[in-house]
Amino acid sequence: MIVGTVNVVTLDGPSGAGKGTVGVSIAKKLSYNYLDSGALYRALAVAVERHNVDLNDKKLLKKLAINLDISFQAETGSGMTVFLEGEDISGDIALERTAARASVLALYSEVRTALTERQRLFAISPGLVADGRDMGTVVFPDAVLKLFLTATIETRAKRRYKQLLLRGDNVSLPAVWRQLQKRDQRDSERSVSPLVPATDAIKLDSTNMSAEEVVDALMDMIVARGICK
Ligand code: DC
Repeated sequence: MIVGTVNVVTLDGPSGAGKGTVGVSIAKKLSYNYLDSGALYRALAVAVERHNVDLNDKKLLKKLAINLDISFQAETGSGMTVFLEGEDISGDIALERTAARASVLALYSEVRTALTERQRLFAISPGLVADGRDMGTVVFPDAVLKLFLTATIETRAKRRYKQLLLRGDNVSLPAVWRQLQKRDQRDSERSVSPLVPATDAIKLDSTNMSAEEVVDALMDMIVARGICK
């Protein structure tokens, strides 16, 4: 494992806590690489759908995860284009259906092991901000700083609902809330790498904070630790 040679800042927490927005912004400020580990699980979910793989066929799922042909391209702003087997799947990746399927795939240890190896490859110079569920506990246990971002289910559901509306999706707040609750439960109660803060993680509740306030608070912690350039 290469971890330790470069600084890794982990950012874990449930869906809708703001990890993506905040993570991209911090990575930019530090000029670090950024890993959206959820995008790997989501890309696998898209690959499973495209290749018609049975969700119970763990052997095939493992093979698909090991050979996942995925690449990222940073866009201007905070966007990221995701390619699967050379095809832009950014639209499919953002679907709630994909998220739900990713959360089911994330239950399998064979899948997690394969994707964990992929995630560790992102820890390259000049450093990495890694966003996910088990970045601080499993993937980068030696991270120089571990952050755990939370927010109430109400706030997270409203944030997600707003995002989906802006994208033009036809959704209702209660439906988004229910889906989030289901995913929270699956991610937190699974036996392999459940969503829990690392014992040495710093927790921040973003319920009453704007994204800018969260970024400022986290950057203060980063500077206090001497991680800043
Ligand atoms: O962060 P996200 O919503 O894009 O993640 C989608 C699903 O992928 C999430 O519900 C659980 C899984 N996941 C995981 O198990 N571990 C990670 N490090 C990231 C995501």
